[in-house]
Amino acid sequence: MAQNVYDNPDFFAGYSQLPRQVHGLAGAPEWLAIQAILPDVKGKRIVDMGCGFGWFARWAREHGAETVTGLDVSEKMIARAMADTSDPAIRYEVADLEVLELPEASFDFAYSALTFHYIKDFDRLVRMVHRSLRPGACFVFTIEHPIYMAAMHPCWWSDKDGRKTWPVNRYAIEGERRTNWFTDGVLKYHRTIGTTLNTLITAGFAIRHVEEFAPTADQITDNPGLAEELERPMMLLISAKR
Ligand SMILES: C[S@@+](CC[C@H](N)C(=O)[O-])C[C@H]1O[C@@H](n2cnc3c(N)ncnc32)[C@H](O)[C@@H]1O
Repeated sequence: MAQNVYDNPDFFAGYSQLPRQVHGLAGAPEWLAIQAILPDVKGKRIVDMGCGFGWFARWAREHGAETVTGLDVSEKMIARAMADTSDPAIRYEVADLEVLELPEASFDFAYSALTFHYIKDFDRLVRMVHRSLRPGACFVFTIEHPIYMAAMHPCWWSDKDGRKTWPVNRYAIEGERRTNWFTDGVLKYHRTIGTTLNTLITAGFAIRHVEEFAPTADQITDNPGLAEELERPMMLLISAKR
């Protein structure tokens, strides 16, 4: 059974206050960059893995998706997604991506945002997603950037001018990483960029686009706190095709 930290009441309360959960996709600085690599969702049967509050599911339906299946291991996240959605073409289900099996060739587009770094067996998941897509279908996902994950330990340092620096530790040592975020000991899994991309290629995907998200100058003007994202990549955005 996967860790299910989003059902921890303290974690859930803190997480629910993040701008990206209060304002939805517009509160996620990487959303514009994601949109640039999304396929046209019109008429597509979509699966959203780690759907959270269902922001993407609702956006996809507003943009013409035929159906969206939103899956998440957290009962609290799914309950909130259901409460915020009144659309019979969106189906939410509690499901653990570590063991999930989807029917073969049943989706036209697979999507996931900021979830796969919680998954231990990425190889199994990617092969399963490949089987679940019809030939030619797209797979777009975002994860915490492996450099960001590796820079989390032992946290940042300061240079001689007191500026934060971001050492990368144990980058080549893949596997468990623990971090304190709303609660202690949140479990994530670090994989190098090479492993991430090669897992997709080995499963039969063609890589279409790889984006190491950095905010634009306009975004930093609007939200100066985003300048930190120029110091090291925080998110990795990948588009692949079956
Ligand atoms: C950072 S949130 C992202 C939520 C949503 N995709 C978004 O962008 O707003 C990560 C989500 O992944 C879910 N998750 C973590 N591990 C999971 C697993 N093993 N199976 C299914 N969902 C999982 C969490 O419950 C949480 O809702």
